[in-house]
Amino acid sequence: MDSLMRDLITGIGGYDRCVTEFVRVSQTVLPTRVFYRLCPELHNRGLTPSGTPVFIQLLGSDPDLMAKNAAVAARLGAPGIDLNFGCPAKTVNKSQGGASLLKNPRLIYEVCAAVRAAVPTDIPVTAKIRLGFEDDQAFESVVWEIVRAGVTELTVHARTRRQGYKPPAHWHRLANVSQNIDIPLIANGEMWSPSDVSRCASISGCHDFMLARGALCRPDLGLATRALLDNRYYESMNWPQVTPLLSVFLNRNAACYDARYAINPLKQWLVYLSYYFPQAAALFAQVKRIKTVDEMNAALRMDAHKSYSAQPSAA
Ligand SMILES: Cc1cc2nc3c(=O)[nH]c(=O)nc-3n(C[C@H](O)[C@H](O)[C@H](O)COP(=O)(O)O)c2cc1C
Repeated sequence: MDSLMRDLITGIGGYDRCVTEFVRVSQTVLPTRVFYRLCPELHNRGLTPSGTPVFIQLLGSDPDLMAKNAAVAARLGAPGIDLNFGCPAKTVNKSQGGASLLKNPRLIYEVCAAVRAAVPTDIPVTAKIRLGFEDDQAFESVVWEIVRAGVTELTVHARTRRQGYKPPAHWHRLANVSQNIDIPLIANGEMWSPSDVSRCASISGCHDFMLARGALCRPDLGLATRALLDNRYYESMNWPQVTPLLSVFLNRNAACYDARYAINPLKQWLVYLSYYFPQAAALFAQVKRIKTVDEMNAALRMDAHKSYSAQPSAA
């Protein structure tokens, strides 16, 4: 997610940390504007407006270049550097990036060790992997190389690159590793509800979780999950509480980007929200052909009015 969505979601709460979309490192030390574009939070010490740290994620395979770019990100104030060895995209994998490095644990070690050495010791260097490329046979050796390189925390999307995004996520593959490494292992993949997270905790043995698509489907997933894990009652957000966020998101996009591009992020978000809120699916059907910000604002106002009137009255 981008900085606008990070602001909304962390404003609701429940998250300890965000990670940027990946910064592709291929041939150069990138100009600082690239880092500021993907992580405007750098203007705020790398924190979202509600104070959640945002780590900058780098994707690349050249240890020296990755180290130099990580040093720039650290100098600009990134609270942490995350290294992406999980991206399944063909274009990225073809040029030796993302998940394709899982075929070469030694190179993963070299990238992690070079970045670790280039970044001040008080700045965490974390990594994100999948279980493997074609299969998960080298999973444990990849983990070992990452730990040996001095990485602070490791997130595992519990599927191979070949498995793409096809459910299920294989949380059980994390169980052995989570018991045997001395850095936090963060489980990721297919957690859409607090009870998914709770099941993942018991199957994987992990105590930390990364939520991606689920956080877009249900903006209070972080809060709801914490409540379940702490055995506390939690009143879930309802649609009338979500609708004001839609206008905020739309108008912030309109303020930050060209008006032509301001509407699509909202439409995409509505598609995610539809998994959890049937009202979002209905709204998406109504607005999917809208092309201007003004029209979209009018449709959102109408929807908010409708859902407010549909609420049971207090009397
Ligand atoms: C559209 C899209 C873009 C993504 N971009 C990134 C990325 O830049 N960096 C990253 O580490 N993971 C990225 N991911 C993967 C997610 O972080 C996560 O590992 C994956 O979606 C599984 O978790 P989930 O089931 O909670 O969504 C992306 C996923 C999607 C669907």
